[in-house]
Amino acid sequence: MSSVIKVDIPEKSYDITIAPGSLDQLGEQMASLKLGKKVLLVSNPMIFKYYGERAIASLEKAGFQVVSYNLPPGERYKTLNSIHKLYDIALENRLERSSTMVALGGGVIGDMTGFAAATWLRGINVVQVPTSLLAMVDSAIGGKTGVNHPHGKNLIGAFHQPSLVLIDPEVLKTLPAREFRAGMAEVIKYGIIWDTELFTQLTASKHLDQLRYVKSDLINSILTHSCQAKADVVGKDEKESGIRAILNYGHTIGHAVESLTEYRLFKHGEAVGIGMVAAGDIAVKLGLWTQADTERQNALIKKAGLPTQIPADLDIEALIDALQLDKKVKSGKVRFVLPTQIGTVKVTDEVPTEIIREVLKVGSQQFSS
Ligand code: GLY
Repeated sequence: MSSVIKVDIPEKSYDITIAPGSLDQLGEQMASLKLGKKVLLVSNPMIFKYYGERAIASLEKAGFQVVSYNLPPGERYKTLNSIHKLYDIALENRLERSSTMVALGGGVIGDMTGFAAATWLRGINVVQVPTSLLAMVDSAIGGKTGVNHPHGKNLIGAFHQPSLVLIDPEVLKTLPAREFRAGMAEVIKYGIIWDTELFTQLTASKHLDQLRYVKSDLINSILTHSCQAKADVVGKDEKESGIRAILNYGHTIGHAVESLTEYRLFKHGEAVGIGMVAAGDIAVKLGLWTQADTERQNALIKKAGLPTQIPADLDIEALIDALQLDKKVKSGKVRFVLPTQIGTVKVTDEVPTEIIREVLKVGSQQFSS
């Protein structure tokens, strides 16, 4: 099973191709877009070891001249220094306006390559070839690119849409299990915010964490639904002036938990799992959705092997303060995305701090018992 999803943004539309084995068609697909001959392939040593040669072979077969560069792995290196390195390579190899940077990797590689491409010569092409579940369903789509500042994640960045997103679900087989589970949080997110059918499909699947090994049709369908949800939302609101904010479901408290635990304890998706549970509880307290639906959501998050509660020893007041530092705070008010039904959410900045406090306290007590 394969699918093509269009991300429909005026003047910048592009396709997301999802097909097993499609890594070997990278060159062919890029050639059909009439991109210039020079390509800088950016990856990290581990991912390059698995997939670099296949990607290069495909590109060269289609007539591209390829240079490759591996950045060190991890969020720690998501810095302007790494971007500088990419500029040096771009300069040495005379990358031009028509040239392309190809990101072969997870979210960190995708964000950095996208940012280097957005800024080199005021913007050259970027193609995203995501290799993690999180990058496939979220970060590779929609054009958010950037690096971290010592005082905050993703504070430096630009919107720069790719020319193509090429997803080969088979590469998920080499993804560490914890990374796969963390990516599943974003998949579940789409089930809650947008796609009831996806939610039902996930609920009916027995072994969410084994999906990448067993039933390729199912993982392809889950990827297709997730990417379609992201494409729909981004197509309506590229620069997050409106509906795109719903993609931050679970992220308000999730980001605060990540930041308070210094990005060491939880992977992003794990913190989003905790954040979705908390957002669901807030929605119940505000009478926006039912206890039964929040339990269905939480059961799915648990089944995916994700944490659902904040650590018992986390300082709740510090967590509430950290919410204020989120870059999505508007006019001093914390913005929450809250579910109203499975498949529908609303954005509000009217959540009383007392309710947030109650929900966080209950969560942490349950965790410790
Ligand atoms: N990951 C949220 C967004 O792309 O807007």
